[in-house]
Amino acid sequence: MRGLGWITAINIVLVLLAINSVASAESRYKWNTLDWLESLNITHELHNVTTEDGYQLELQRLPRKGAHSVLLVHGLLGSSLEWVLLGPDRSLAFQLHKRGYDVWLANLRGTAPFGRRHVELTDVMAEFWRFSFHEHGAYDLPAIIDHMAQVTGRESELDGHQDEQGEKEPPRQVLLIGHSQAFNAFLVLLSMHPRFNQRIRLIQAMAPLARLHRQVQFDSTQVRHLMKFVKKRQKVNNFEIFPPGYLRKICQSKSDVCEYYAKQFIGSAKNNKKLLEPFNYEYLLQGGSAREIKHLQQIWKSGDFIAYDYGPVENMQIYHGVEALGYNISQITVPIILYFGETDAIATPSGVHTIYARMLKSVKSVRRIESAKFNHLDFLISADVKTLVNDKLIGQMEQFLEGRLPYVIE
Ligand SMILES: *[C@@H]1O[C@H](CO)[C@@H](O)[C@H](O)[C@H]1NC(C)=O
Ligand SMILES: *[C@@H]1O[C@H](CO)[C@@H](O)[C@H](O)[C@H]1NC(C)=O
Ligand SMILES: *[C@@H]1O[C@H](CO)[C@@H](O)[C@H](O)[C@H]1NC(C)=O
Repeated sequence: MRGLGWITAINIVLVLLAINSVASAESRYKWNTLDWLESLNITHELHNVTTEDGYQLELQRLPRKGAHSVLLVHGLLGSSLEWVLLGPDRSLAFQLHKRGYDVWLANLRGTAPFGRRHVELTDVMAEFWRFSFHEHGAYDLPAIIDHMAQVTGRESELDGHQDEQGEKEPPRQVLLIGHSQAFNAFLVLLSMHPRFNQRIRLIQAMAPLARLHRQVQFDSTQVRHLMKFVKKRQKVNNFEIFPPGYLRKICQSKSDVCEYYAKQFIGSAKNNKKLLEPFNYEYLLQGGSAREIKHLQQIWKSGDFIAYDYGPVENMQIYHGVEALGYNISQITVPIILYFGETDAIATPSGVHTIYARMLKSVKSVRRIESAKFNHLDFLISADVKTLVNDKLIGQMEQFLEGRLPYVIE
């Protein structure tokens, strides 16, 4: 009897523990970046940045004064949540900060809840949603990087850092890290505002989307379906393609549909549970404008890295020609490291290799994530992200900073 009593007690404890961990996982799915930082009691700063065209973006910073500044930039449908949601031991933001870096987390226009304000517009207006990676690179990133320079410049003045002539130091260079569509925004930034070539020390791009033509692992019918869906939402004035929680709801009620599209667009995963995991996070896959998707579709179709195609009439007014302009990427000089996953359906291995082989001269290294199966979102939520991605990224960055980055094309 006594033995049985013990077993019952242990069982009850186990059940309670299980319920508890399910409940806390459930609540974590609704956390945004700030919820994570606050609940982990991590020292952080918040910064408001206003872009030249009036968007008010909120950044988070894990400050380390005087250290190298790293800016982490999320991809399509992402937010700064990408860099914290695996907690203190496995998330890139925390790993970098522990290693001694000054870490900044970008939230580009459109992300909820940190990229949804504008000096005049509100996020229910069509006008608010007229952006793609072009505006992320042409307006958001310059404002963010200039703001970082202002803040770190002021801190260094306060610390009395001046050169012999008593002049101010030049703005501190930034180490950029981005996932997915963020790389497209980096290229727009550097070709539209070449002065940033001197301001950025290194770009590390995970699963970059700059070359999609004949590369993606889904076919034109599937792209048509996606575009039809986008159009339908626009028709009923849903300018935001996936509001926070939208995908979570769909994936709970129609898990087979969700699974099908997840497989097509995000690639294969070891098991279905893992495949659907990213959809659970309310603030992970959310936001997005129709134009973002459309612009990517145009790159996919044309095979060139072109500015947004408005159609011949509007193109004439904007670009003074019937066709959309190609970005002048030949002037990009910032060293670049690219990372690809073997089974990424969007940033495919050969797509990423063409960025190196045909597009940009300043690629210093192309690295494969060492796993037979690694897809687009695994860069953010894979259980092995620390060893497979983050440690590698930090290692490469440090080799680069010490001037001994090996030239490796994998
Ligand atoms: C949070 O951190 C501060 C400063 O390090 C400390 O004083 C405080 O006790 C911590 N709070 C919790 C709940 O851990
Ligand atoms: C940023 O703007 C929001 C909204 O106006 C405000 O609540 C917040 O205090 C501001 N944060 C900073 C650091 O200025
Ligand atoms: C692109 O940039 C290069 C280098 O700055 C310059 O020589 C060239 O004229 C530019 N091309 C266009 C079309 O602007």
